[in-house]
Amino acid sequence: MAEPFDAVDVIIAKRDRRELTDPEIDWVIDAYTRGAVAEEQMSALAMAIVLNGMSRREIASWTEAMIASGQRMDFAALPKVTVDKHSTGGVGDKITLPLAPLVASFGLAVPQLSGRGLGHTGGTLDKLESIKGWRADLTNAELMRQLAAAGAVVCAAGPGLAPADRKLYALRDVTGTVESIPLIASSIMSKKIAEGAAHLVLDVKCGSGAFMKDQARAEELAGVMVELGADAGVDTRALVTDMSTPLGRTVGNALEVREAVEVLAGGGPADVVELTLALAREMLAAGGLPDADPAAALAGGQAMDAWRSMIAAQGGDPAAPLPAARHSETLLAPESGVLTRLDALAVGIAAWRLGAGRARQGEPVQPGAGIELHAQLGDRVTKGQPLLTLWTDAPDRFPRAQAALTPAPTAAAPPPIQITQPPSAPRPPLILTRLPPTEPE
Ligand code: URA
Repeated sequence: MAEPFDAVDVIIAKRDRRELTDPEIDWVIDAYTRGAVAEEQMSALAMAIVLNGMSRREIASWTEAMIASGQRMDFAALPKVTVDKHSTGGVGDKITLPLAPLVASFGLAVPQLSGRGLGHTGGTLDKLESIKGWRADLTNAELMRQLAAAGAVVCAAGPGLAPADRKLYALRDVTGTVESIPLIASSIMSKKIAEGAAHLVLDVKCGSGAFMKDQARAEELAGVMVELGADAGVDTRALVTDMSTPLGRTVGNALEVREAVEVLAGGGPADVVELTLALAREMLAAGGLPDADPAAALAGGQAMDAWRSMIAAQGGDPAAPLPAARHSETLLAPESGVLTRLDALAVGIAAWRLGAGRARQGEPVQPGAGIELHAQLGDRVTKGQPLLTLWTDAPDRFPRAQAALTPAPTAAAPPPIQITQPPSAPRPPLILTRLPPTEPE
């Protein structure tokens, strides 16, 4: 059958800043998914979108077309309210690990269909796979049973959810077309809407370790995603949070699981606890429990019980020792003062080079590789004290990892790690904005 449109006409339209019509968008997404639009054509169209943007109507239409390329999950039969959370990705972002069981301990269902990491931000599945026996792949029936029983599930998103996005995201990754608000918003929201939860809380990261480097762009992305959710009948809210420095004191798979377990035991770094509680309050309020006290559930052990059930339900042994890398190197503070810069991107790249992340889809990651931070932004340090420890099974990876943290000085970029002598150095706020700005009536 003849195609109703020509891919070249659609590319030219966007190149020349014309708004695409809904039928053009429906067709181009469907035709790309079935192979009738070539990779090079979609790549040119994605670049035209990066350069010329999209209207709100085009973004909504693009998102709907990507949802329609696959199946939608349906949790209507579940006797629990479903609340999902999504982070746009950051360095040391292990929040899903304590958050999902914490929220589930109040009787809500938290389906977290996640992906594996690519590049400098780690994937939640890679982190959990460092737990002995834990498996990411569940059938839909297993997912529903676990949601009904344990309440929280973190598992791999099946290939049937928004397959157009799966194909397009892989293409964007290798064509320099990831950093675009219309493409990021539609990519994330097509998957989240297809996942079918009634409520959604977004953690939109902002800073050097995030896609959005400045607050205005992060707020714009958050605003578009909140509107896309509302259009699709999913109650959606967002926090814009800082990602200029890593979250917590660990970056790397097993290292981050260890820190998440510390938070579930009532301890852990203050920033990880603060963000876990802020997102938990949003999820609980969205799920109809505005007065629930998540801090009490961390202190009282209910969240830890829910973690153990969640891990055991997927074959994992929550009591098994976590893997550790065989080799370490520690960087010492070159002078005394206050740590006024600890750049998220540099730490993320260093952890990735140590083996915590992968360069290509399908590559294995090292469960024990990564970085332990002995000081965080704003901490006072003394010359010679350990600043950070690098871990890997492959010691030939140390030089390139170190080069990310202590590169040769250039006039253009400040060094990733800076110790200075400010009169006072309060740490910048972690939670920057909430959208919608006030609690909905
Ligand atoms: N995460 C996604 O799923 N899609 C994007 O485009 C960026 C981040």
